[in-house]
Amino acid sequence: MFLKRPFSLGKLTLPSNVLCAPLAGCSDLPFRRMTVKYRPGLVYCEMVKMDALLHMNPKTLPLLDYEPSMHPIGAQLCGTKPEYAKQCAKIVEDMGFDVVDLNCGCPVDKVTKDGSGSGMLKNPELIGEVIASMVSTVKIPVTVKIRAGWDTDCIVGPQVTKIAEQAGAVAICIHGRTREQGYKGPANWDYIRECKQVAKNILVIGNGDIFDAESAERIFIHTGCDAILLSRGTMGQPWLIEDIYRHLSGEPAIEYTPLHIRDAFLEHLEHIVSYKDPHKAVLDLRRVGCWFLRSIHGARALRETINRSKSVDEVRAMIENYPWHDCAIGKEVVNAEC
Ligand SMILES: Cc1cc2nc3c(=O)[nH]c(=O)nc-3n(C[C@H](O)[C@H](O)[C@H](O)COP(=O)(O)O)c2cc1C
Repeated sequence: MFLKRPFSLGKLTLPSNVLCAPLAGCSDLPFRRMTVKYRPGLVYCEMVKMDALLHMNPKTLPLLDYEPSMHPIGAQLCGTKPEYAKQCAKIVEDMGFDVVDLNCGCPVDKVTKDGSGSGMLKNPELIGEVIASMVSTVKIPVTVKIRAGWDTDCIVGPQVTKIAEQAGAVAICIHGRTREQGYKGPANWDYIRECKQVAKNILVIGNGDIFDAESAERIFIHTGCDAILLSRGTMGQPWLIEDIYRHLSGEPAIEYTPLHIRDAFLEHLEHIVSYKDPHKAVLDLRRVGCWFLRSIHGARALRETINRSKSVDEVRAMIENYPWHDCAIGKEVVNAEC
């Protein structure tokens, strides 16, 4: 009932309505290699700032690296200027992206200080102008991702939903937290439901606190949303996508073992090694290791040694030689950042 396969964004048909979020500093090419194995409806790259993209900033372009196996794939733009948005939307369309999204949710001061990211929530009319400018230029579907509002005194989700629909966006994703909340406290899915209630043609994508298959089902029921967007839930458990498919299709859940986690960690490691320079790879492995190991009782020593490690070969050897048979899957819900 909740799982839609196939699912469409405008004329674009997606494999399903379970999508994977843009995650700055995380949803890089190795991360997406891991998630696309489980056939999500769509994966988004990390957000890119419009002015950086227009200047072809060498640090920005790699954020948009992708491989043919990653289609359908979306790029996400962050900025406030309709003219820049138009040019950037065309650039990503020409790069082969299937969807372009406008970021109206990033809470970081550095981003909001010029009014972009969640700063856009203080100026809903401008969101409409930026979206309209993107829609007027590209053939690919335009989506927008927002937080519920700046703070609880400024909840603008329903207003922005109507504006985005009018401006021609095919879908709006609502993260059920305010900017003021950052990532603290639970996402309030009522905010998403309120957007769905005012949406006529625009599709509503629910986001926030989907950490397992059960919460995926609950957010569909609670909000009536058309699709869901997975974020932190996929960190160190890319198979969450498949778990959700199985759950919503009534198939039995897969029982994961520490050895399964070890193999996935090693696989992610090899993707990092093949893509990043050795120094960056070691740093990335600390973060990624933390994701994979946090749900395992008995892996603390491994996590600590990885954090001190200086080379990829050392990390690989430590993972391979660790006494995994003495470990067990933890009971705790996989949560946030480590
Ligand atoms: C490390 C990190 C990076 C993020 N980067 C982006 C981003 O580039 N663009 C965006 O729209 N949201 C970004 N988000 C927000 C997530 O996509 C998502 O809206 C949020 O984490 C709520 O979902 P969750 O509670 O399921 O994690 C980021 C979140 C985290 C934790």
